[in-house]
Amino acid sequence: MSEKNPITAKTKVLCLIGYPIEHSMSPIMHNAALKELNLDFIYLTFSINPKRLNLAVKGIKAFNILGFNVTMPFKQTIMKYLDEIEPFAKKIASVNTVKNNKGYLIGRNTDGVAAMKALSDVGYKIAGKNVLILGAGGASRAITYIIAQNANKIVIVNRTEKKAIKLANELKKNFCIQIEGKRYSNKVVKNEIGESNLLINATSIGLYPNIQSTPISQEHLHKDLFVYDLIYNPLETRLLKEAREAGCNVLGGLDMLVNQGALAFEWWTGKIPNKHLMKTQIIHHIE
Ligand code: ATR
Repeated sequence: MSEKNPITAKTKVLCLIGYPIEHSMSPIMHNAALKELNLDFIYLTFSINPKRLNLAVKGIKAFNILGFNVTMPFKQTIMKYLDEIEPFAKKIASVNTVKNNKGYLIGRNTDGVAAMKALSDVGYKIAGKNVLILGAGGASRAITYIIAQNANKIVIVNRTEKKAIKLANELKKNFCIQIEGKRYSNKVVKNEIGESNLLINATSIGLYPNIQSTPISQEHLHKDLFVYDLIYNPLETRLLKEAREAGCNVLGGLDMLVNQGALAFEWWTGKIPNKHLMKTQIIHHIE
């Protein structure tokens, strides 16, 4: 904190809980935005041993931490400690943002909205598109539930086939579009990618430090494909680099991260943060 924004006995606390947490960019973007708006808050991170999550939640209430983000591996396990879970978060069984209303904890999921806003901000329209999504974990669940509102077709491929099939079956109950869940294989990707318009990587393949990994062989990428990788570190994954070289339009995960941060910030403080500042701070830090 600078001299202009000293921490005082009145400073309010926000935080992120996860395990591990050391690589998080959230404090960088939140503290920059808080400082710019002269808000007397500080955003911290806490690495919580998964066996002590219950104690962490008690601590959050006792210390009157006004809001917190939740990351791996707590997006599901946090739910049993909350007093209220918003319907969308309940549906996808994942919470990434919590507001503490005088000891009453409300859980929300903004991952899907944040990801789709990033896509619409670059002018991409999902309506009528065929989407191939890699992964069937929390991020995939959050996004597919939103995409299914107006895509033409969604194919979910995942290393663990039963998770892909389970997610596809859930979506089919809620939406009247073509939805399939399949086991990930080179053959399946090759068969599906030809008629896909949008490829989304919702796996952790390619995430720092494994930056040489990529979920798709470059030969399958074609120039009519828009490639969206939810990973933001590195800013350009190997998948995105190869897609760009193949003539595809591409988008990385940084805007999704900033969007979910901004949505949390606004919910907790009632103020709209400077997303451009949040983004440039992260880029500066990663680079
Ligand atoms: P997130 O909340 O980021 O979605 P997650 O719920 O743990 O995290 O999901 C991670 C996704 O990446 C899963 O789809 C996972 O596949 P499994 O369901 O088979 O575990 C996928 N994933 C992670 N590492 C992978 C790897 N090396 N190969 C293939 N898929 C991988």
